Amino acid sequence: MEFRGKDTSGVAWVEEGELKVVKDSVPVGELYAKYGLKDLRVPRMLGHTRYSTHGKADPRNAHPHVDCRRRLAVVGDGALRNYEELLMEVLRRGHRVESKSDFEVVAHLIEELLERYESPVRSFLEAIARLRGFISLVALFADGTAAAYTSHQPIYVGLGESLVAVVPVLTSLYGLAGSYYEVLGGEVAVVTSDGRVLFVDLDGRTVIKSPQPLRVNGDLVPKGGFPHHMLREIYEVPYSILRTASAVQLKYLEMASRMIVQSKRTIVIANGTSLHAGMVFSYYLAELAGVTPLVVSSSEFPLYYVDNVGVGDVVVAISQSGETSEVLKSVYEARLRGATVIGLTNNINSRLTRFSNIYIPIAAGPELAVPATKTFTSTLVVLYVLAKHVGAAVSRVERAELGGLWRELEELSRMVLSSLDYVSSQAREAAEYIGSCTSGYVVSRGITYPLALEGALKIKESSYLHAEGVEGGELRHGPISILDRNVFTIFIEPLESSAAADMLNLVAESASYGSPVVLLSHSLERVNLPVKVVKVPKTSRHLMPIALAIPLQLLAYWLAVLRGVDVDRPRRLAKVVTGTVS
Ligand code: F6R
Repeated sequence: MEFRGKDTSGVAWVEEGELKVVKDSVPVGELYAKYGLKDLRVPRMLGHTRYSTHGKADPRNAHPHVDCRRRLAVVGDGALRNYEELLMEVLRRGHRVESKSDFEVVAHLIEELLERYESPVRSFLEAIARLRGFISLVALFADGTAAAYTSHQPIYVGLGESLVAVVPVLTSLYGLAGSYYEVLGGEVAVVTSDGRVLFVDLDGRTVIKSPQPLRVNGDLVPKGGFPHHMLREIYEVPYSILRTASAVQLKYLEMASRMIVQSKRTIVIANGTSLHAGMVFSYYLAELAGVTPLVVSSSEFPLYYVDNVGVGDVVVAISQSGETSEVLKSVYEARLRGATVIGLTNNINSRLTRFSNIYIPIAAGPELAVPATKTFTSTLVVLYVLAKHVGAAVSRVERAELGGLWRELEELSRMVLSSLDYVSSQAREAAEYIGSCTSGYVVSRGITYPLALEGALKIKESSYLHAEGVEGGELRHGPISILDRNVFTIFIEPLESSAAADMLNLVAESASYGSPVVLLSHSLERVNLPVKVVKVPKTSRHLMPIALAIPLQLLAYWLAVLRGVDVDRPRRLAKVVTGTVS
C-alpha cells in the first residue's frame, strides 16, 4: 500500500500483554529491515504508512500513537475536523501529547474512557462518537482486542487461513485472504481478544455480514486495483474531497481570510493545473467577497509584477508539490519585498510551506500519476471554502452558511461517487468520438472557463492530442476558422444562464462545420443537435467546477488509453517541475 504514502511508517504489536511500538521516517519495507521485524511472531500487529497532512514527516508524528499509559495504540487515515477542539480538551485534562498528528488525541480520548469502563469496545465506540470528519481508524488494545471504524470510505476485513487482516484497500489482501467482509461508513469491526470477528453500529448493535470471496487480479495490486494511477486517483476524488474538507482547520482559514480582506491587493500565483484552480478562485472571490485578485502564472510574476509588490500585498501561492521552482522563486522575491504569503500545497514537507507566512494543506493524499486530478479537485475545495470565509469576513456571506459547508461537500462527494462509473463510460464514448481528430478546442465561459483551459491541458499532457482552451465569446474572434472534421470541440455548458444560451448557438455552428462536438451538460434535458452529450449530475453552482473537472479528466484518460500513451508517466513531463528558473 505504499502508494498511499511513505513519509513515515510504524508498527505496534502486543507481546506478553505489553504494547511495543517502532516508528521511523522510512517506507514500511525499510522499517521491517531496519528493526528486524521480519521474523517477529506475535498474535496482533498494527501498522501504518503515512502521508503527512497534520504535522511534518517526523518519526514522532508517525502512527501508531499510544495513550499515556500505553494501554492502546491507534492508527488513522483522513483528518479530524474537530482536532483543535479535542486537542485542547485532552491537554486541559493533563494528557501528554507528543506529536502534531491529529490521531494522537484519539488514543487519549479512548484512554480516558477505558479508565471509566474497562471495556475496549465500549471505550472505542464512545470515543468515535466524539470524532468529526473523514476518517478511518484502528485501535489495538494491550489485551489483544482490535477495533476498526470508518466514517465514509469502506474498509475491509480479510480472512486468511490463520489470519484476520483489516485494510483500507481491498487489493492489499491479495495473497493473504481468501474471503473478506466490507465495512461501510458508520460501522465498526471488532477482533476480540480470542480472535472472533464481529461487527457493530455506532450504538453497539450487532450488524450481520457475510464474507465474500476475494477475487483480485494480481497485476492490478500495485495500483490499488486499477490499471493506472491516474484512473485510481480520479476514482479517489469523492473521498479526497472530504479528506481535504476535514483537514482545513478553521483557525488558518480565518487567519488567511483576514489577511486577504486587509490586504491592499491579492495576487494569486501558480503554474499549470494549479494556475487553473487559482483562476476559479478569482471567480469565487469576486462573487462571494467582492475581491478581484490578480491571477498570474508564477513564471511571469518575477518578470513584471514582482517589482510592484510590497508591504500590504498578499500573495496566494498554489502548488500541489510545493516544490515548483517558479512558485518558490516568486514567493521568495515577494517576501523580500514585504508581501505576505499564503501557501496552499499538497506537500506540507515542501519548501513552499517553509517560505510561506501561513500555509493551508490541500490534503488530497499522495498523487503519483503525472497528470494532476484529485489534487485539482481538492485545491478547488480549499479555495471555495477559503472564498466563503473571506465572504463571511466582509459580511457578504452569512456566518451560518459556513456551518453548512461540510454537509454541502458531503453531498458533492456522494453525488460524485454514485455517478463515477456512468460519467466514465460516457467520457470513454466521447473519447472514441473525437479520438481520430488531429486537434481541438475545449470551450466555456464564466466560472467554467478555467476548466476549459484545464481540460485542454489534461488532454495534451495525457494523450498527446493537441487541444486549446478557448473562452466561448472568443471563439468567433479567430479560433472558429479552423473547425472541420479533424478538429473537435468540447463545450462545457456554462453556469451563467446568459452565457449558456449563447453557447448553444456556438455548439450548433461548430457542428455545422463538421467538427465532432462533445457537450458536457448539467442542465439541458435534451439536445437536438448532432453532438455527443456527456451528462454531468448537477450540484450547487459553486461546486459545479469540481463536478465538471471529473468528466474532463476521464475524457483525457480514455483518450490516452485509446492512443496508447503511458498516461501515468507522459514523455518529457515530471511530477515536480524544478530547475526552469535560476
Ligand atoms: C498538469 C500538471 C502540471 C502542474 C504544474 C504545477 O496535470 O500536473 O501542470 O500542475 O507543473 O505543479 P505544482 O502544482 O506542483 O506546482
